[in-house]
Amino acid sequence: MLKFSSRNPFPLIRNNDKSITDARIRDHSDQVDAYLGLQIEEVEKKLRTYGCRLEASVFPGKPQELWIGLAAKRFLTPYTEIRTILSLLKPKPGSTIVDLGAGYGRMGFVIGRHYPKNKFIGYEYVGERVKESRKCLKRLNHPLVKFRHADLSSAEFRPVIADYYFIYDYGTTEAIRKTLVDLKKIAQEKPITVVARGRDSRDFIEEHHPWLTKWTLPKSYIYFSIYQSV
Ligand SMILES: C[S@@+](CC[C@H](N)C(=O)[O-])C[C@H]1O[C@@H](n2cnc3c(N)ncnc32)[C@H](O)[C@@H]1O
Repeated sequence: MLKFSSRNPFPLIRNNDKSITDARIRDHSDQVDAYLGLQIEEVEKKLRTYGCRLEASVFPGKPQELWIGLAAKRFLTPYTEIRTILSLLKPKPGSTIVDLGAGYGRMGFVIGRHYPKNKFIGYEYVGERVKESRKCLKRLNHPLVKFRHADLSSAEFRPVIADYYFIYDYGTTEAIRKTLVDLKKIAQEKPITVVARGRDSRDFIEEHHPWLTKWTLPKSYIYFSIYQSV
């Protein structure tokens, strides 16, 4: 049974616990959003009506996959899954974790609470989402968690050098291609771990990025896979 508790909003649930359905996991995440004060439905409703007004691109109009107007459960990773991913990564204190296309920054809230010695940067194109996440972050004491307004597909953009990168079908194939080239350059300087969620990102990595699959076999789970560079 998965019950929301404000004393432990991001519980670590056992991978093989079949009594907890996906629907319950997603409902639980809705309760966590409400607890954090994230008004996702309201923000998405405005985005649906007026479009994204706070675009990150210096050349707005370039097609992006922004998942606008959807329910949180349709485009955000559940909090309990984020907790599971982090427990598998076991990030060393002081290391940096980046979410590429962070949505409402769910990963940042989990890291702030359970990994307060790790840095987190979440890049997101839709400024309205960044604003909402920052509003809720202000109420918490998570000094190492940052939400940045950025267009990952822009030629001028380079992600920060980090230890762990999370990608969940964040954008168009062109944008994912550009990001993986950026990550490959970073991996030439230091080993990195990439967690990819969703079919598109995983297929793309496995078909086009042998530097992430050739030397260390990916660890695959139902919804995500973990890849390591050499
Ligand atoms: C499928 S959602 C995943 C959100 C978050 N990573 C999670 O797992 O909860 C993908 C996010 O990537 C963002 N995105 C798409 N293209 C982007 C770009 N070019 N630069 C930055 N963010 C982008 C979308 O606006 C959306 O919020």
